[in-house]
Formats: sequence, C-alpha cells, structure tokens
Amino acid sequence: MVGTLLLSREDIRDLISIEEVVEVVEKTFKDMGEGGVINPAKLHLDLGDGSSGLPYKAGMNAMPAYIGWQKVAGIKFIGGWENNPSKGLPYIRGMIILVNPEDGQFLSVMDGGLITAMRTGAQVAVALKYLMVSRERPVIALFGAGTQGRTQLLAISSVFDIKEFRVYDINKDAAMLFLKEMSPMTKAPIKLFDSPQEATDGADAVVSVTHAKNKFIRKEMFKEGVTLCPLGSFSECADDVILSADKIVVDHVEQCLHRGALKELVGAGAITAENIYGTLGEVVAGKKHGRTKNDEKILCVTIGTGAMDVSVASMIYRRAMEKGKGVSFSF
Ligand SMILES: NC(=O)c1ccc[n+]([C@@H]2O[C@H](COP(=O)([O-])OP(=O)(O)OC[C@H]3O[C@@H](n4cnc5c(N)ncnc54)[C@H](O)[C@@H]3O)[C@@H](O)[C@H]2O)c1
Repeated sequence: MVGTLLLSREDIRDLISIEEVVEVVEKTFKDMGEGGVINPAKLHLDLGDGSSGLPYKAGMNAMPAYIGWQKVAGIKFIGGWENNPSKGLPYIRGMIILVNPEDGQFLSVMDGGLITAMRTGAQVAVALKYLMVSRERPVIALFGAGTQGRTQLLAISSVFDIKEFRVYDINKDAAMLFLKEMSPMTKAPIKLFDSPQEATDGADAVVSVTHAKNKFIRKEMFKEGVTLCPLGSFSECADDVILSADKIVVDHVEQCLHRGALKELVGAGAITAENIYGTLGEVVAGKKHGRTKNDEKILCVTIGTGAMDVSVASMIYRRAMEKGKGVSFSF
C-alpha cells in the first residue's frame, strides 16, 4: 500500500519560489483557456459570513479541479474566520488533497494556507502581464496589507520592475507592520498612504485584498488606463466602478457571478455573463486579446480557482518526493 504524503506549512515553505508559482499559475490559466482543466464552481458553506444566521462569522469552500498538463486531480478545503485575527489566529485556514486520477490514491494532504496566498499573488501577477497598460516601472496601489497583500507584493514584483508600491490599509498598524516586514523582502519601493484615493493617483494598477463590505473603491479611483483587481470576497467596489469598466475579465465565469465583486450587481440583474469580456485563461491562451487600448479601464476579478491550488500543490508534491520532505501516512 503506497502511503499519502503529509506536508506541513514548514515542509512546503522552501519547496517552491514565488517565481515558480507564477510560472505554474500562468501555464494552468493557459491550459484552462485551451480546455485541459476541469474546474467546477466552488461550493460554499455559510457559517455566518452570509445569510445563514450562524454565529461564527465564517464560511468554508470546497474547490475541486483536474489539471490536464499535470495529470492530477485534487480538492482544496478553505475557510475564512473573521474573528480570528483579533484572537491572533490566521483569518484563512486551508488544506489540499491531491489524488491520482488513475486509481484515486491519495497522493498527498498538505497545508493550503500558504499555497492559497502564493497563488492569489501569482494570479494577479499573471493578469497584470496581459492587462496592465505599462509594463515598464509600473506604479501599483494595494489596498489591504494582510496575508494576501504580502504575496501580492512578492508575486507582482517578481514579474515587474516596480517604480512604487503604494499601500493603504484601514488599520494603520497593519500597514506599518507590512512596511517593516516586507521591505527587506523586495526591491520594490513601498510607500504607505492614508487614503485609498491618494494611493491611486497615477497608479497603473489597483489591487484590493480586504474584507471590506462597504464599497470603498469609488469611481474616481478607477481612472482611464487602469487595471483594477478587486480580490476580496465581499463588496470592495461601488456599483458605478464595476459598471464603468470597458472590459471585465474573470478567472471563472460561474464563480464570479456568485461571489466577490460582481455578486451584488448580478443579483440586481445589472450584470450577466453577457457583460463578461472573457476569462483570464482565454486571454493567456491567446483566444481573446488582453488590453487593446491604452485608455481602457479593465476590471479583472479573480475570485480564486481550485485549479491554481491543485496545480501548485502538485508541483510541490513532486519536489517533496524528490527531496524526501514530509511524512508518509497510510489511511
Ligand atoms: N480572490 C482570491 O483568490 C482570494 C484568495 C484568498 C483570500 N481572498 C480574500 O481576500 C481578503 C483578504 O484576505 P487576507 O487573508 O489577506 O486577510 P487579512 O486579515 O490577512 O488581511 C486583510 C487586511 O485588509 C484590511 N482591511 C479590511 N477592511 C479594509 C478596508 N475597508 N480598507 C482597507 N483595508 C482594509 C485589514 O485591516 C487587513 O490588514 C478576504 O476577503 C479573503 O476572503 C481572496
């Protein structure tokens, strides 16, 4: 009986670089665009982050996928607990199960938190490669100096020579900690801002990864030529921000209609699948153009797909097998 490789966050930390995660994510988007990936929409369990009335202020997702170019299947379990940061616990908890599609063998069970953060950064780095107006010395505005904000910085600065990385967080201490911790990890100059409006003046891209539900991204922050990437699970953008986009690109049409930035307008009937220009997979695979005009306002909503998690996890599993990392367990 072949065992299942158990991998902790510590085991996987040094097995893959952010540059490699960006590469795996780009290949997986291309495969998605070419039809090699199967990725049903994520299934959500409302533990109080929606209308269930449960007291936990949380939600959990099941995210299965098959990755053609790696011939692997898997599923990520991921949840977000809003009360956790105030208890000193991580907001997100996740785990990934990898399966051999030939016989169902559980190849590996591994921590999914770090992989989620890395692939979330990588998916935006890939999106900006195809959608951002200026690829030389871009100015990036980031809202949300948390876990995902950190990997946004690492992934985006691994692809671009950043002129200025402007950070705004509603919590000033979080922003200060971000500056202190992240400055030694990147050559991108990080500058903190007191208001989101100021941070967006002259920015080529605006990336938002917050828990905001108050639609704090206003129309004046989404100027001509800007690529706006709202990644938060709730409502970061005012309605007219979304409605003013020249192109809406998403990672997964069905998912993006039901969660994240577009959800409310879809519910109100103001946006349908018809308003979506295409998927990032189609753009990376060359089936649809990315940016075609310098003054286009592009809204890119990547709500996160199991495909990216399973694909990155599969690469990590192979490395771990080669390097003898982790513990084998027989179920
Ligand atoms: N799209 C994806 O693929 C993807 C993947 C992972 C997480 N997420 C989502 O990203 C969001 C952030 O996750 P995280 O793990 O970084 O959380 P986190 O708690 O580590 O960080 C969130 C940060 O946002 C800040 N913030 C909250 N409201 C704000 C506001 N109105 N303006 C500015 N800053 C604000 C908080 O102070 C905090 O520093 C969550 O909604 C999460 O569900 C999306």
